[in-house]
Amino acid sequence: MKPEIQSNKIVILSGSGISAESGIPTFRDANGLWHNYSWEAVASPAGWRAHPEVVLEFYNERRKHSAEAQPNIAHCAIAALESAYEVVVITQNVDDLHERAGSTNVIHVHGQLNYARGTSDARRRYRINAAPILMGQLCEDGTQLRPDIVWFGEDVEYMTESRRHIETAAKVLVVGTSLSVFPAASLVKAARGRAEKILVALDMDKLPFGFKFMRGKAGSIIPFLCERWLEEASKN
Ligand code: APR
Repeated sequence: MKPEIQSNKIVILSGSGISAESGIPTFRDANGLWHNYSWEAVASPAGWRAHPEVVLEFYNERRKHSAEAQPNIAHCAIAALESAYEVVVITQNVDDLHERAGSTNVIHVHGQLNYARGTSDARRRYRINAAPILMGQLCEDGTQLRPDIVWFGEDVEYMTESRRHIETAAKVLVVGTSLSVFPAASLVKAARGRAEKILVALDMDKLPFGFKFMRGKAGSIIPFLCERWLEEASKN
């Protein structure tokens, strides 16, 4: 039995494209991170075992860059929806621009740059904000600290909770993701037939079933869409 759809609930599924206009590179677009770095070397357990210092340097750079970036109008428009809707942001992004824009319910399925964690099974997490992680910095159980990021081949977090949120949403907005990385990309399948479903990106190979494609930049499309939804709520 599927759970009840909540008429005032909006779920956002975001990817790196929403932070592109804040100056943070995406992964697979022209000049994306994976054109300049090997994900095997910097975003996999094997890369960590082989060259932990290279991996730490890569994420220290990204953490510094993310701390210097500012939320853009798309992040802010999504945060403003909370004035009339219950909003859940499920993001593949490891930056904190949604939170800095004012979103209060953000689920990071691929981890967060602002946290470090130990390398033992205990996975103790520590908030580090923009600070670098250095070789020799240990967790309280004596293991080397690593970025609290989900690397390729590692378990993605909060999938059941995320699927549940999408199943109960009256509106589902997918923005700035190529939907090429699983299992996060499979979350779109949880969107209900009766829900309003919109996908915003510069391009999209395979549009998920039932979604309306709005081609363009998040900064150009999202503020208008959110404004329309707020107007809709004010009439209800
Ligand atoms: N506005 C909206 N969409 C944009 C913009 C923009 N300004 N710029 C780029 N895009 C879109 C592109 O059209 C593309 O569909 O953002 C998407 C970026 O896709 P990817 O680079 O594949 O990034 P993402 O989907 O976030 O990657 C998923 O892959 O590397 C892993 O863990 C990493 O979370 C990441 C996951």
